Amino acid sequence: MEIPFAESFKIKMVEPIHRSTREEREKWIKEAHYNVFQLKAQEVYIDLLTDSGTGAMSDRQWAGIMMGDESYAGATSFFKMKDMITKLTGFEYVLPTHQGRAAENVLFSCLVKEGDFVPGNSHFDTTKGHIESRKATAVDCTVDEAKDTQLEVPFKGNVDPKKLEACLAAHADKVPFIIVTITNNTAGGQPVSMQNLREVRAVADKYNKRVIFDSARFAENAYFIKVREKGYENKTIKEICKEMFSYADGMTMSAKKDAIVNMGGFIATHIQEWYDAAKVVGIVCEGYLTYGGMNGRDMNALAIGLDENTEFATLETRIKQVEYLAKKLDEYGIPYQRPAGGHAIFIDAPKVLTHVPKEEFPAQTLTIELYLEAGIRGCEIGYLLADRDPVTRQNRFGGLDFLRLAIPRRVYTNNHMDVVAAALKNVYDRRETITGGVKITWEAELMRHFTVKLEPVKR
Ligand code: F0G
Repeated sequence: MEIPFAESFKIKMVEPIHRSTREEREKWIKEAHYNVFQLKAQEVYIDLLTDSGTGAMSDRQWAGIMMGDESYAGATSFFKMKDMITKLTGFEYVLPTHQGRAAENVLFSCLVKEGDFVPGNSHFDTTKGHIESRKATAVDCTVDEAKDTQLEVPFKGNVDPKKLEACLAAHADKVPFIIVTITNNTAGGQPVSMQNLREVRAVADKYNKRVIFDSARFAENAYFIKVREKGYENKTIKEICKEMFSYADGMTMSAKKDAIVNMGGFIATHIQEWYDAAKVVGIVCEGYLTYGGMNGRDMNALAIGLDENTEFATLETRIKQVEYLAKKLDEYGIPYQRPAGGHAIFIDAPKVLTHVPKEEFPAQTLTIELYLEAGIRGCEIGYLLADRDPVTRQNRFGGLDFLRLAIPRRVYTNNHMDVVAAALKNVYDRRETITGGVKITWEAELMRHFTVKLEPVKR
């Protein structure tokens, strides 16, 4: 008999979670104005809101927490973190920040000016926010294949080199850098191939431009290169990471994802001018150069997390769990962005709730239905998150409308995935009866999905 695959860890600390009744959930979601961000965590049974800062640290990381050096300047913890980053990326300049968006804020303050264009694959919402708030334009050059959720291609997160080149040809003197997000979260946690990173570098070199990687899930990206791209099957994840970063000039990092810490981030680069400029903003906004918004103990945990999560077994355990959930959905015929992404499953909501018009936010409606069904909290990555066009103030319905089920690292077992799949099947089976979505009663101007207030549309 073939020995089955199992997790590359065993569990030595647990946290209880609780089921609730449908009646309780109906009350709670109403009090939350039908916005799952407004729920209290204890009102949630299985929390797939995000994989960011929600992972379970290892025993080695917890040991690192106890050994943190809390010196204001020159802490050993900083140098442990810096050395690990340099080892994995080749970048010698490292500036800590309290999380990923802070890294964006610090670096973009130095590089992005009004009227600029910043091309890349899909920009994450905070990245786009930091570009648009500086009156610059984020240009999404993702390959067209990403828009067809049922198309099965290995690197759906890629940049389309022709679109990139068209942007550079039109605006070359207004492009401060190209940004590639690995993996491409917005397109469904889809990876970018090494070949594509090389192509982006070639276009950048042709126009004498620099390249930044938004690296929140770079280790997962390296895993996909190893298992899907010819020529990389025998390379280690660490070797693949080193090659990926050789095509970039710098990176922003939300360490809350692939470094498996609850808080933290950084900028790393080989360009001294960038580091010198970022140092000034970093000190003003984040803190001194050797802590930048982090505790010494957190920097220790971050260094160890990066080391562990660039090992194949750790990544394989994680991504196989996402695939496990995907296989269940295949069994039930529930449509999602194919193939399954690295950190999450993205359900194609308009294909499920065919009677809910786009103006009534199908993915948000599905998010609410899944919560009501079994207390599972996913999140909308769709028309609400897309915000309004800054000029016309119209809703942006041009993209995809997903319910994202992000799976925290090393937190839930496959039994939890079975519960998620069963709850989704129940909602799917009664999809024809769901005819009304939600309407907005209050919204913020930017990043409205966090605080939006909604009410159900009754038919
Ligand atoms: N870049 C990417 C690709 C991200 O996914 C995120 C965060 C950030 C930058 C910002 O990092 O949260 O540390 O400030 N993504 C989380 C998510 C919030 O749920 O996908 P941060």
